[in-house]
Amino acid sequence: MADKKIRIAVVGAGWAGQAHVKFYKDLPFVEIVGWADVAPGKAATAAASAGIPADRVFTDFRQMIDRVVPDAVSVCTFNMGHREPTIYALEAGKHVLLEKPMAATLDDAAAIMRAWEKTDRILMVAFQPDFSAENLAAKQIVDTGMLGDIYYSEAVTHRRFGIPGGNFVKKATAGFGTLVDTGVYAIHNNLWLMGDPKPIAVSAITGNPLAKAYKGIRQTFGGPWSAEEFEVEEFAFAFVRFENGAAMIVKSTWAAHADSIGRTFFLGTKAGLALDPLEVFQNQSVGEFNMTMTPKNIAKEESSAAWGLKMRRFAEAVRDGLPSPIDPRGVYLVNVIMDGVIRSAAEKREVAVNASYALVGARA
Ligand SMILES: NC(=O)c1ccc[n+]([C@@H]2O[C@H](COP(=O)([O-])OP(=O)(O)OC[C@H]3O[C@@H](n4cnc5c(N)ncnc54)[C@H](O)[C@@H]3O)[C@@H](O)[C@H]2O)c1
Repeated sequence: MADKKIRIAVVGAGWAGQAHVKFYKDLPFVEIVGWADVAPGKAATAAASAGIPADRVFTDFRQMIDRVVPDAVSVCTFNMGHREPTIYALEAGKHVLLEKPMAATLDDAAAIMRAWEKTDRILMVAFQPDFSAENLAAKQIVDTGMLGDIYYSEAVTHRRFGIPGGNFVKKATAGFGTLVDTGVYAIHNNLWLMGDPKPIAVSAITGNPLAKAYKGIRQTFGGPWSAEEFEVEEFAFAFVRFENGAAMIVKSTWAAHADSIGRTFFLGTKAGLALDPLEVFQNQSVGEFNMTMTPKNIAKEESSAAWGLKMRRFAEAVRDGLPSPIDPRGVYLVNVIMDGVIRSAAEKREVAVNASYALVGARA
């Protein structure tokens, strides 16, 4: 199997689609056989600069998948465009690497999971932080049982003023704001390290006071935005309860009058762990002495290292017939929580969430 070249097609030629192509091109066992974007000329321009032949460029992803018969498809469309190409590709028997979030809405995520459970294909949601040296070490520490039972965590992503524009601030394309764009990383990360506990209730607030007070047009990496056209939330704060009695606070900002809103951390019955930098805390006997342990040899790396590993792990799983390097059933719980955040903020009260796997129970 190791010498087999796998055929991959990419849907979406924005920043993420171009990043997928760039990293696939580093893998000698991958061939990019198609690239589609609905925006006229967008895939053609990106393909020309990436050295992909013009006859592999499409505007319609269905036509591309039917014609080029790939082994796998990378879905890199904006959030509200994840459902259709993912389900089409899975139903056509393709493995899928789907950009985060799994979907902007719970309805779309559930439809994707239902399509996946009818296949034996890989569905991997592209969370590159799972492959950072720090997170891999944290996972290894948690898996030894060193923390005991994790009963509380805080999941934090903070930008002081880092609101993207373009498709990221429109309901029709992004669905929601910081929650599904950056908060999703922290929620997934914490669930993964906590062993994917099932959420049962969420209480949250969301809002966009800084964006709505902004004067003029701001140019950003996602495109321009202005207060008038800003349709999503810039902050989300939530308290999440789990079936096993644990809880998690989510703090996610694209903008806030704060230089820091704290670190991501975990409290366990035997030890605590914090990220960035990775530290493990243990009180030998309260009031006597406390230990803080810091790993000495975790590589300082560029974020491109985790990106490269994410793409490699997916491609190797396709080539070698391995399971998804990231279990989509855990990622589905992220959507359950995000849906709870949105409903709770709208209803101004704690809401129950249903993480039942009744609809995704067909797989072992
Ligand atoms: N993992 C990461 O680090 C990372 C970084 C940036 C973006 N993303 C994710 O990647 C996705 C895309 O982000 P982006 O920055 O490239 O956005 P973008 O809006 O710049 O690009 C998305 C592209 O998808 C195209 N598209 C939408 N629907 C389509 C369809 N049905 N068929 C073909 N093309 C379609 C659009 O025309 C657009 O060119 C988002 O879900 C985002 O959250 C992930």
